[in-house]
This record gives sequence, C-alpha cells and structure tokens, in this order.
Amino acid sequence: MIGVYDSGYGGLTVLRELRRALPQYDMVYLGDSGRAPYGGRDVDTLLDFSEQCVERLFSEGCKLVVVACNTISCVALRHLQQRYAGAGSAQHVLGISIPGAELAVQVTSGHVGILATARTVSSGTYVTEIHKLNPTVRVSQRAAPLLAPIVEEGWEDSSIARDAVARYVADLPGIDTLLLGCTHYPLLLPVFREVVAPGVTLVDPAPYAARRLVDWLARHPGVATPGTGALRVLCTGNPANFALHGGRFLGERLPVVEPIAEVRGRLANADPQDSPTGQVVR
Ligand code: DGL
Repeated sequence: MIGVYDSGYGGLTVLRELRRALPQYDMVYLGDSGRAPYGGRDVDTLLDFSEQCVERLFSEGCKLVVVACNTISCVALRHLQQRYAGAGSAQHVLGISIPGAELAVQVTSGHVGILATARTVSSGTYVTEIHKLNPTVRVSQRAAPLLAPIVEEGWEDSSIARDAVARYVADLPGIDTLLLGCTHYPLLLPVFREVVAPGVTLVDPAPYAARRLVDWLARHPGVATPGTGALRVLCTGNPANFALHGGRFLGERLPVVEPIAEVRGRLANADPQDSPTGQVVR
C-alpha cells in the first residue's frame, strides 16, 4: 500500500497520475485540509505537521509515503527521509520536487521559470535541485499565492484566473520553460497555455513523478506490491466537503472520506468530537 500525503485537495492531482501509472496498487491519501493552506506557514510548523501526517500513513500500514505537496517536498523532505527512512529502514519517503527539477532540466533550453507557494519559493529548493543537475540553467521564480485559492473556489475558467496567471507570468520574462510548482496548477493548464508566450514549455511534475515512481518500485521490490487498486482517503478537515470538492482534483469520484480528528495540534485516532473545518468550505 502506498501512502500519498498533501496539505489538502491539491495532491489529488498527483494521486490521479499515480493511479494512472500504477492502477493495481492500493493507495491511502491523507489530505491535511483542516490545517491547509500550508504555502505561507513557517518551516517549524510544516516540519511538525508533516511528521504527524507521515507517521499516520505509516501507522495505516504504508511502507512508502509519497509527498505530493510541493511545499512539504521543498521544505521537509530531507528531514522526513532522515528521520524515518535512513539506511536499513523499512520505511521510505519520496517527494515531487526532485522529479519536477529533473523534468525542467530535461526540457529547458536554458531559462526555467517557477511559480509556486511563497514557502516553496523561499525554500530555494527547486533552484538548488535544478542547479545540482545543471548549474548553467538560469532559474527565475515567483510566489503565486492567489492561484491555489482561485482553483479551490472553482474559478479556473474565469477572467480572475486569466488575469492572475498573466500577472504572475509577466514577472518571469525570457523563460523558455515554466515549472508548475504547486499541486493546484494542473487545473489551470488551459489558462497557462493561453497566457504563456509561444514556445514556452509547461512542466507539470506529476505525470513524470508517477513514471519515476514506477521505476523506483521496480528497483525496490517488496516495498509496495500490487493489490486491487483500492483507494482510501483520509482528511483532517470536513470529510463531506472533501468528498464533494475532491473529485474535481482527482478526476474521479472519491470514496467515502474518513475524518482524522485534530486535538491540541496533534492528529488523534478517535473520531472528531466537534465540527471540523476544511480548506474549500470552512
Ligand atoms: N499543496 C500545496 C503545494 O503544492 C499547495 C496548497 C497549500 O498551500 O497548502 O505547495
């Protein structure tokens, strides 16, 4: 069973690609929607939240957790790998940022632009990973904090979305490749295609990350074995809202969403005692 972790809804766009690439594998998705968005939070809080969520997925029986969230992949992946997946450990943690950097370096002719959350941008991780692969590539990045909320509102096909994307893209002049460094942006792909200059290649890390995961599983036999393609979805926010809005991100109907209670900042095993919130509809 493969665990997939995200701050909320956006990682469902990554889960969609993982399920396409690995249809036989059972997966458990944990969306921390009650504490999302993560993109403007401080690093210590993100380390704490990510530890709690990854531990929860391990306790559900996953030996491999894929961090679908760009913010957590950029800020906390090394920390999570060192804490849980050191040499000899049976537990593994993979992320989305290294595949994203690899793909950007493969397709660019010299100048990569990145749009992402404020925390992803300030981490500098995408820049570092791209330069590890090719130090001559120029990288320009811009925080785009309005885009995830626009997608959450379901306003992908609106003048607000087009204006916001156009203004962010205008701050990245001269790029030949645009890395979509946030889980929500694949839903804005039609708008990005309209707005970017002809010849700019759009990079969505998720399909490539899914192909890299197929390779990784072949090189690590026994970590996760094919099952029946079953899917469980857990969230810390409102499970009814999560099921209602999640389908737009996953591209298919969600199964019944299981709630995870949060008590004094920790994830609890008991059912929620009060009415939980959630990112799309609070
Ligand atoms: N999942 C986050 C990411 O990819 C976006 C949403 C959030 O800020 O929580 O960075």
